[in-house]
Amino acid sequence: MTHDHDDRPDPPVVRVDAGGWGWTWAADVAGRLHQVALGPGGADAPVEVDPVWYPDAHPTWGGPDPYRPPALRITHAEGTTTTRLALVRVDRSTDDGDELVRVRTRDELLELHVTFSARTHRVSGVLEQWVEVEHHEDGPVTIWDLDSIAPTFLVGPEAQVVQFGGAGWADEWAWTTERLTPGTKVLDSMGGIQPHLQRAPFLLLEPNGPATETEGDVVGCSIAWGGNTRFALDVRPRSGEATRDLRLRAGTNPTGAHYVLDPGVPFVSPTVAWTWATGRAELTDRFHRWTRARVLRDPERTRPLVVNNWETTFFAFDQDRIVGLIDRAADIGADVFLLDDGWFGTTHPRDDDDAGLGDWEVDRRKLPGGLPALVDAATDRGVRFGIWVEPEMVNRRSELFAEHPDWVVRDRREPREHRNQLALDPLLGEVRDFEVGVVDRVLGGAPGTSYVKWDANRPVTDPGTRALPADRQSNAWVDWVHATWDVMARVADAHPDVELMLCASGGGRTDHGTLRWFHEFWTSDNTDPVTRVRMQWACGHWFPASAMAAHVTAWGGRPLQFACAVALSGRFGFDLDLEALDDASLAVCRRAVAVARRTQDLVQHGRLIRLVSPVDGPDRSRAALAFVAPDRSRAVVFCYQLDDPLSPPAELRITGLDPDGIYTIDATDLSDEGRSLGTATAAALADGAVAWMPDEATTARVIEITRVAAPD
Ligand code: DGJ
Repeated sequence: MTHDHDDRPDPPVVRVDAGGWGWTWAADVAGRLHQVALGPGGADAPVEVDPVWYPDAHPTWGGPDPYRPPALRITHAEGTTTTRLALVRVDRSTDDGDELVRVRTRDELLELHVTFSARTHRVSGVLEQWVEVEHHEDGPVTIWDLDSIAPTFLVGPEAQVVQFGGAGWADEWAWTTERLTPGTKVLDSMGGIQPHLQRAPFLLLEPNGPATETEGDVVGCSIAWGGNTRFALDVRPRSGEATRDLRLRAGTNPTGAHYVLDPGVPFVSPTVAWTWATGRAELTDRFHRWTRARVLRDPERTRPLVVNNWETTFFAFDQDRIVGLIDRAADIGADVFLLDDGWFGTTHPRDDDDAGLGDWEVDRRKLPGGLPALVDAATDRGVRFGIWVEPEMVNRRSELFAEHPDWVVRDRREPREHRNQLALDPLLGEVRDFEVGVVDRVLGGAPGTSYVKWDANRPVTDPGTRALPADRQSNAWVDWVHATWDVMARVADAHPDVELMLCASGGGRTDHGTLRWFHEFWTSDNTDPVTRVRMQWACGHWFPASAMAAHVTAWGGRPLQFACAVALSGRFGFDLDLEALDDASLAVCRRAVAVARRTQDLVQHGRLIRLVSPVDGPDRSRAALAFVAPDRSRAVVFCYQLDDPLSPPAELRITGLDPDGIYTIDATDLSDEGRSLGTATAAALADGAVAWMPDEATTARVIEITRVAAPD
């Protein structure tokens, strides 16, 4: 409580310090919560006026501001559509220096309880928030809108947002910046199972205009939800002022998904993780640290170098072909060979995407020795074996569908196919058991398999479930996510030593919620290295490179050394016909593997420093990024010339090194072993001591930097 008030008793105050930034809420006389302050120092701000003059902390429908959409809208059991929450109490607990703050409120009139929770992670400065609703009314209530956060910002006229979504499949992570204007801007995603093909659930808000890597306010926000999400930015002018009020709401997308909630059953909104940083580099540092600490599995373990067969063979392979590829994978020094789609189906062989899905028996026509023969072939050659599964789906042409036509997501109409398949309904207990069983059975039938790619290749259409009564069908959108997470958690628990890659037609499921059971994700099916640089650039704002699988393919027909250099700045691997490569190409691959071996600790565990932007810099034809060892003794820099240059060669200012260090510099474009560029001080490197490479489209340079000594 503070004593900043004159004539009234001190209002109850809630302060959340997320590590350098935070917020203060205060309750007015009616108990209604208001946001007193937000941002750097926001947890220490005094309450200077009656709280009623501050914006609502989490506006409810029917509140005093009729002009702005609410962050919570519920129809109560007896029909009342308004909610008025009053503070009941604040519970605080600490765990290892971090804090859980639970702000408990109750409707003034009805037995509805809403708890606003905030969990700090001070090491990173990322704050997690969610909202819980529980009631004891005389029958179910309907939740129409429930955002997990609804902070209000005072923004300048140049305020802008960056969103991450393009045209859908193969266009994930497209970077769009836009200036905010008055009104409500909604950035949402749909599709249920693979919504992030449309828009990844991340947002950069720059309240005072464009930020740089090191300067300017940047608010970063991630909705940790494996389903449809929504950001809403409500901008309202302030009379006579250039500044505006902006309320940011973030949570599930309520379209078609109102939730009918019975008495006594808690409803928990998704966690939204957010931070307020100075410069985009700090934002990324924070999200990487938090993602490693609270999201990804085994974050300290170096991820393997994977060779996959999908782009090489699609469905057309046999045992000899796969063993041949395993042979080559071993030969170039891969860690894992991953057998993709097409290995199963007996009655309905999986020779294309229109049959066999759901029937997880190996196709002996293709693989007479079964999976064990492939595991043995890999093991004999010192490579681990990995396998692709898609447990949540079924083709009509399958034994599974013949046996269980009623297991699929559908309403009363004939369900539509998408990629010739239907989605199984995870709200049915037997479906969840089946899905867990798919992985158990596949791994059990191929002992020694230690890597699984989990795919999901269709969205939800024709939503409906027989697990819920007619008046609860809209609950399915939320319940499906929890049911799917339950399946994933069971799989991860049952196979703690198996590495899991998350994939949904590419990057259709890249949220911090679902990734808790995975080690990495397939960033996009689009592996054209020119596009990939921009995708990885955007995605890298939120995820360390260890999580972003990046494979060299033939997509786009780009020079192989360029494709290798691009994949080297992610979790490196190949999806290339290694058997068909000529000696010169194989030599490029070997060189790339050697670079990966020397630099993967930096790329996966080092600090990402973005140097030249391909998405919003002055010359988007080029990109450069560095990964620096935590002790700054080494770094690797990737320079990419994506298209014909738009401007004369840029100076390459390599920052983030030990300011007292002298470094040796070695560079290669992967067409040869490379050469030494001599030594330079960190200051000289920051001043452009290394020239930009030749300005030719689709060329790259990998620069390895090693500290030799500190200057006298
Ligand atoms: C979509 C994935 O993104 C691809 O990598 C591949 O696994 C196919 N599915 C297989 O059907």
